[in-house]
Amino acid sequence: MKLNWGMIGGGEGSQIGPAHRLGALADGNFTLAAGALDHDAAKGRAYAQSLGVAPDRAYGDWREMLAGERGRDDRIDLVTVATPNATHFEITKAFLEAGFHVLCEKPMTMTVEEGEEIVRVARGSGKICAVNYCYSAYPMVREMREMVRSGQIGRVRLVVTNFSHGHHGDATDADNPRVRWRYDPAMAGVSGQFADCGIHALHMASFITGDQVETVSADFASTISSRVLEDDAMVNFRMSGGTVGRLWTSSVAIGRQHGFDIQVFGETGGMRWASEQPNQVYYTPVGGRTQIMEKGEAGLSSDAARLSRVAIAHPEGFPLAVANIYVDLAAAIRGEGRDGLPLADDGLRSMAAVYAAVTSAKSAGAWVDARPPMFR
Ligand code: NAI
Repeated sequence: MKLNWGMIGGGEGSQIGPAHRLGALADGNFTLAAGALDHDAAKGRAYAQSLGVAPDRAYGDWREMLAGERGRDDRIDLVTVATPNATHFEITKAFLEAGFHVLCEKPMTMTVEEGEEIVRVARGSGKICAVNYCYSAYPMVREMREMVRSGQIGRVRLVVTNFSHGHHGDATDADNPRVRWRYDPAMAGVSGQFADCGIHALHMASFITGDQVETVSADFASTISSRVLEDDAMVNFRMSGGTVGRLWTSSVAIGRQHGFDIQVFGETGGMRWASEQPNQVYYTPVGGRTQIMEKGEAGLSSDAARLSRVAIAHPEGFPLAVANIYVDLAAAIRGEGRDGLPLADDGLRSMAAVYAAVTSAKSAGAWVDARPPMFR
């Protein structure tokens, strides 16, 4: 039977809303049953109805949606929170406390304390709180994780990752309100680019290696001087198991487009994946030749095969990576285990790493403990 799905944020013209709708609806697991899609109540109601939501479930805001849904027999099984960052905590907490499963956009919260609170509430409620680290759901990223797990590159020595684009590199556009808020502490919190993009890369490093980030040393720069928060960051990190990590994230790298890639180097081999060529992994065994592994080819792990839908060599991009998060969520809601699903623990770890990097950057790159206090 189909599950009922609701969405908060992701209104008309939003950046991430369409990827959630394409993703959630791709595999027939969910029906879009309710929504509070926009900060403008009338626009949100109208847009939800245009997407097929019944008028009485096209809500003006999330509190109205919570009140309306909690009493229904056919209430939503899952709610996605795709609003701006500062609202994630209160919406996610309220829906978990009311007994709904939640998929929250990243960053899950604005502070470490809020992150710990979400972890506690999720554990207490017994409900799933997933966080949309959707890049980890690309089939070939799953393949890399499986290659590490099965020892194909030996013990991992080093992870090098970049999430650097150039879309905020035009100083003449720095005062555009759609750009400016990202570097304003009142709106964005303690970190700009690292909290926005760097945490995807950091999560990916942990996801593939199976190691957690323990300490960080950071250098932050505001290369456009009117910006209070960083638009460029270099973060060194050390992981459980001794893995060494290097991460560069930037929004002023003009000419780079999406700019997310990761290389994992082990004792007996190395591999590379890039979000702009997500169907391939470049793998080199020590002393051997570089091989290009292709999504959809024979011999891939069961997880990589399971999460690939279209035939080999056909592009299968971002919305279907998001769809993979929803596939695993649907399975988890139905009581089946899924070990690849990014959860509130991951959202909390990211926030602890953000605060540690900010502290480090203010202390000339001193090494700082990046583990959430509740996991130490
Ligand atoms: P956006 O500004 O393009 O859209 C935000 C949407 O939320 C708009 O439709 C707005 O009307 C609505 N909204 C704002 N406040 C609301 C409220 N209180 N109740 C209901 N709706 C409300 O923002 P964008 O880029 O779509 O980002 C949203 C979230 O998704 C952010 O947390 C961002 O970090 C995250 N994101 C994640 C990505 C990923 O790769 N996982 C990629 C892009 C964004």
